[in-house]
Amino acid sequence: MKRILLSVPHMGGAEQSYVNQAFSSNWLSTVGPNLSAFEMEFAALIGQPAVALSSGTAGLHLGLRLLGVGPGDEVFCPTLTFVATANPIRYLGADPVFLDSDPGTWNLDPGVLRRALEERARQGCLPRAVIVVHLFGQCADMDPIMDACNRYHVPVLEDAAESLGASYKGRPSGTFGEVGMFSFNGNKIVTTTGGGMLVSKHAELVDQARFWSQQARDPGIAYEHSELGYNYRMSNVLAGIGRGQLEVLELRVQQRRSIAFRYRDAFAGLPGISLMPQAAYGLHTNWLSCFLIEEQQFGCSRDRLIRVLDAANIESRPVWKPMHLQPLYAGCARYGGEVAEDLFHRGICLPSSSSLSLEDQRYVIDQVRAAAGAGPLAEPEGVAAAIA
Ligand SMILES: Cc1ncc(COP(=O)(O)O)c(C=O)c1O
Repeated sequence: MKRILLSVPHMGGAEQSYVNQAFSSNWLSTVGPNLSAFEMEFAALIGQPAVALSSGTAGLHLGLRLLGVGPGDEVFCPTLTFVATANPIRYLGADPVFLDSDPGTWNLDPGVLRRALEERARQGCLPRAVIVVHLFGQCADMDPIMDACNRYHVPVLEDAAESLGASYKGRPSGTFGEVGMFSFNGNKIVTTTGGGMLVSKHAELVDQARFWSQQARDPGIAYEHSELGYNYRMSNVLAGIGRGQLEVLELRVQQRRSIAFRYRDAFAGLPGISLMPQAAYGLHTNWLSCFLIEEQQFGCSRDRLIRVLDAANIESRPVWKPMHLQPLYAGCARYGGEVAEDLFHRGICLPSSSSLSLEDQRYVIDQVRAAAGAGPLAEPEGVAAAIA
C-alpha cells in the first residue's frame, strides 16, 4: 500500500525544458543563463534584488554575517522553529537567545520581543540581530516587530524558508528586514530539490553575499582572497527547476490553502481539533496544514494520532520542537517558551502536498475522524463527484 507523505515536490511541467537547456548548452555549473534568469524572476516577484544559493541555511549564514554577527554576539531567535534557523548563529561563534511565540500566529510574539529588547537595552547588551521566522506559511506580525527593532536599531533577518507566496498587509514575506531568506528544499511550496535565495532592499548586501558564496575571489587573474568565502552558489541546472517552479507558485499557494480548508471543514463537527490560526493581516499559504489537538475533547492524544495515522500509512509530524528544549541548545538564554512548548505538545502537521489527490485527502480526513471515534464524512455533492 502506498504511503501518503507530508509534503512532496510537485513539478509544474516547464522545469524539464529549462534543465534540458542547461544540458544542451553545457552550462552545468554555478554560472549560466538559468541562474541569472531565476534571480531576475525571483527579484521581480519579491520586489528586491536576489542571489540564488545552495540552501536556505547558507542564506541564513550569509545573512547573519552581512548584519555583522560574530563571535561573542547574541542573536534573538524564535524558539519555535526548525533547527536550521538557529544553527548559523553558532556557525558564526555567536549565541542564540530564544523568544516565545504568539498563540495567535505561532510566530515570534512582538510583546515578548519588545520586553526583551527593553531589558537588554537597560542592561547595555542589545543583540547584534533579530531573526524573525514565518512559520508554516504565515507571516509574523511584522509592524510591531519592526517598530521594536527600529527603536533599538537592531537589524532584522527574516527566515522566510516556509513562507514563499505569503504576504503581510499586501507585502511579500521576507521583504521587511534588512535581509530575507527563502528555501527551495524538497518539502517546500516550490523546490529546486535543494537551494535558497537571499534578498535585500540593499543591492550591495546581495552583491556581497554573491561574492562570499563564490569563495570570495578577488578581481584579477590570480586566485587571490582577502576575505573568507564559501561554496554556497546554486547550480545553473537547479536554477532551471526553480524557474519552472516559480511559474506555478501562485497555483501551489491556492492548492495548499484549499487542502488546509478542506481539512478544517471536514473536522468542523469534531471537538478538540482546530486549524492553525489564520491572522487577518495577511495571506497564509498553509504550506503545511497544522492543527492543534485538545486530547480530552478530541478523545485521542496528539502522539496517539500520529501513531494511528502512521499505521494507516499516512505521514504526519509534531509541530517543531522548540529550540530551548533541544539538547544542542540547552542552557541558552531565553524569554518565555511556554507557548511554544504547548504548541509543540499539541500541534500536528498533516499531509499537505499540493499534489495530494482529493481521494487521498479524503482518506486522511477519514483516518483522523476515526481516531476521534467519528465516522467517515458525508461529503458535499461537489466534492464527492470530483472524487468519483
Ligand atoms: C524555518 C526554516 N528555516 C530554515 C530552513 C533551512 O532551509 P534549507 O533546508 O534550504 O537549508 C528550513 C527548511 O528546511 C526551515 O523550515
